[in-house]
Amino acid sequence: MNNRGKIFTLSLIIILIFGYFFGQEREVIKENNKVIKIGVLQLLSHTALDTIYKGLEDELSNLGYKVGDNIQIDLQNAQGDQSNLVSMSDKLVSEKNDILVAITTPSALSLSNATKEIPIVMAGITYPVEAGLIKSEQLPGNNITGVSDRTPLKEQLDIMKQILPNIKKIGIIYTASEDNSVKQANDMKKLAEELNIEVISKTVSNTNDIQQVAESVASNVDCIFIPIDNTLASAMPTLINVTDKYKIPVFPSSDSMVIDGGLLALGVDQYKIGVETAKVLVALLNGEKAETKPIVIANDGIIYLNEEKAKQLNIKIPENIKEKAQIVK
Ligand code: TRP
Repeated sequence: MNNRGKIFTLSLIIILIFGYFFGQEREVIKENNKVIKIGVLQLLSHTALDTIYKGLEDELSNLGYKVGDNIQIDLQNAQGDQSNLVSMSDKLVSEKNDILVAITTPSALSLSNATKEIPIVMAGITYPVEAGLIKSEQLPGNNITGVSDRTPLKEQLDIMKQILPNIKKIGIIYTASEDNSVKQANDMKKLAEELNIEVISKTVSNTNDIQQVAESVASNVDCIFIPIDNTLASAMPTLINVTDKYKIPVFPSSDSMVIDGGLLALGVDQYKIGVETAKVLVALLNGEKAETKPIVIANDGIIYLNEEKAKQLNIKIPENIKEKAQIVK
């Protein structure tokens, strides 16, 4: 072979090698451009949960994951119905979503029954260990991790006592099927009884019970505590209609429930729960494992105050509390 021939052959080899690698890279790029399928299961609609979802979607976008571009989100809303939770969980799993998000404890329990493989990110789950979702908050040990919205009950009770120094009887209303509120209701009962405050606690099974249960509790107590309960959060006006009639202040557990007529809550920024959830989700997409990823506690302990309600009920809020509070109305 003459020199020209050699150069020709060498160039051909180089072109083939380049072609091969470019071809490979395109493959890789295609793989990276794969649209990620995210399945979200929400128990029902109330302001707080809708705000969590908004925070999630916004932060995913900030982190470069945009709906209709490189991610696809299938948001399922069970409208508060347990059988919907089961069928929607099965659907999200069988449609091969890459990752799942659970908004509320009942949604997380339902998704965790449907899959032990697909990672599940919890968005604002109050007590993930006690609900039986994970082994420990430091080391979940399975396909579930995410964000808890636990708030310190002792501080909440403390504030209630500062506002109403003479409380003798606290009412607690919660939903029997929500692990998140069952535990909070029991813990609050214990704390109050330690301070010699009598507790009257009653459960509802759905929103239809609220009116009647509220009547029987409100007529009999100095104030009412509502845990971080989805069913009650979705029907605050029904509760508040009754408590206003008896002029009884309600201390709920989220900003949204204060906006909807509660007096004051020590709560968590719901939007931030969504933001933190998105960060966990992206960490998992980048290769971290749910099994070993500790739970994030989104507990910023913000006091949310409804001044209009305080005026209406003729309740004086101490200055030191007012100074720290975020006035929602
Ligand atoms: N923490 C609730 C759960 O574990 C869900 C929730 C988040 C919530 N934010 C809320 C409930 C505000 C009532 C109000 O299911």
